[in-house]
Amino acid sequence: MSAITGYRRPSPGTQPDYLFPRYASTIKRAPTKPLVMLPHTLTELTGPVFGYDEVKASDHDLTRQHAGEPIGERIIVSGRVLDENGRPVPHTLVEIWQANSAGRYPHRADQHDAPTDPNFTGAGRALTDEHGHYRFVTIKPGEYPWRNHYNAWRPAHIHFSLFGPAFATRLVTQMYFPGDPLLPFDPMFNCVPDERARNRMISTLDWETTIPETALGYRYDIVLRGPDQTPMEQKGRP
Ligand SMILES: [Fe+2]
Repeated sequence: MSAITGYRRPSPGTQPDYLFPRYASTIKRAPTKPLVMLPHTLTELTGPVFGYDEVKASDHDLTRQHAGEPIGERIIVSGRVLDENGRPVPHTLVEIWQANSAGRYPHRADQHDAPTDPNFTGAGRALTDEHGHYRFVTIKPGEYPWRNHYNAWRPAHIHFSLFGPAFATRLVTQMYFPGDPLLPFDPMFNCVPDERARNRMISTLDWETTIPETALGYRYDIVLRGPDQTPMEQKGRP
């Protein structure tokens, strides 16, 4: 039997703090005892396999899931999924979900005073191609209030979920938009101590994928594990 080599661990400060009092729900969620480091065994180095026929080619376009087009600014979100050595991760599942342009989710738990959009569900998925590329067509999500503290507002963001090739490469994160004035005030964004790591969650305006007179492009590369890993969302941290 060949030796099992585990994935590299993230560098200190590049993942969210378990306890970040400004992010109120971390106070009850954070571990109170020292963590036990588990070795990576075959269980962590393998993972679920998804049948390709389950993902339809149209699943990547969130603007065409209903009879009409959703209200909002149409955007293209694309990028590459890379492994801990910077190599592309081909044929891997990328799932996204997001609020509509008014900052409202079509979920009964979201009751804030903003309209839902009958032409926008806000969920999509895609497989990366052989070079690790993925691409979504959607609308720019709106900012929305939350009850973390008085007058708290989330910056515009798109939730991402990836499995990659193994359970240890599982990543749940949020993509932000460049220049968003709410970012400095957002505890969810700022609970990642390392500024460079934090900024890996911000997409860049991308003229290469911008379609004239149709949609602005935003590029968002995602790194699964390794020193440049995209930060895991705080509540998704293992
Ligand atoms: Fe959200």
